[in-house]
Amino acid sequence: GTPLRDLAAAKGIYMGVALANGTLSSDATYKSIAATQFNTVTPENEMKWDTIESSKGSFNYSGGDAIVSFAQANSDKVRGHNLVWHSQLPGWVTSLPTNQVQAAMENHITNEVTHYKGKIYAWDVVNEPFDDSGNYRTDVFYNAMGGGVAYIADALKTARAADPAAKLYVNDYNIEGTGSKSDAMYNLVKSLKAQGAPIDGVGFESHFIVGQVPSSLKANMQRFADLGVDVAITELDVRMPTPATTANLNQQATDYANVVNTCLAITRCVGVTAWDLDDGHSWVPSTFSGQGAATLYDASYNPKPAYTAVQNALGGG
Ligand code: G3I
Repeated sequence: GTPLRDLAAAKGIYMGVALANGTLSSDATYKSIAATQFNTVTPENEMKWDTIESSKGSFNYSGGDAIVSFAQANSDKVRGHNLVWHSQLPGWVTSLPTNQVQAAMENHITNEVTHYKGKIYAWDVVNEPFDDSGNYRTDVFYNAMGGGVAYIADALKTARAADPAAKLYVNDYNIEGTGSKSDAMYNLVKSLKAQGAPIDGVGFESHFIVGQVPSSLKANMQRFADLGVDVAITELDVRMPTPATTANLNQQATDYANVVNTCLAITRCVGVTAWDLDDGHSWVPSTFSGQGAATLYDASYNPKPAYTAVQNALGGG
């Protein structure tokens, strides 16, 4: 059949995948499927703060550069993930005196965005700023800079100055359906817009449980789009108990198609990124014991019913 990347392009969206550089360089099948089927790449870990600047002022771009080279060789877009996040943050940042945090954040953003200037389609500038109740996480950035909107606006402005062409996103999970966390993100975007901060998009991670794609997904993404930002599905996977049953694999196919159809139905939805290529390289089993089978390909790289469902949703098959 026609690769997902071509089907998606014909429909005006991208089909992306999160990749790990270690696997790209050691596994030819993984690399070949990534190249053939997807036209946008997100580095799974290689552009995070703990990898890029593990000690103050010392920057390591090797893994991120390798992913960017792979993407460029395949004419793929790259989603930069991510610049500011409470997790995968080295200890030197969390132990800084409060009055040095803003400078460290701005320096990190400026250095990384400048390094990749012209090569990144969109940055997740701030990742996961909210807890599950929809309160700002009171992390080192929040505490040092006078609250959520303030540090996020500053991060966005710093990124914009370093690469004016890159789209700037805030990204989070459990904001896909309506609810208090989604409302918190909605109010953040409104506040950022009201003060003229450079926010271009909202990323809906979409780490779903089989059969539980929120029924409000479309209406919720549309209300963000109506604020004047792009929206994207940035980390899609659909987990289930393992070993997977046929019934769950079929429900998963329905779930994946539902998400792709939702993106297609929203003018400002720019694309869908699958979080990990195959079940053998998914983050899910190590985080959720007894669960997995969350991706489009099984651990032997056979396309699953979900793959066929995505293909059909994109008008192929
Ligand atoms: O690289 C080290 C290795 O040297 C060490 O031996 C090993 C032992 O634990 O750890 C390896 O690092 C792991 C890293 O993935 C690379 O494999 C970390 O422990 C592990 O925590 C890390 O997990 C990543 C996770 O983010 C960290 O929060 C996952 O791969 C990655 O898929 C996941 O991605 C996040 C997004 O960035 C944000 N949204 C949620 C999503 C899923 O959690």
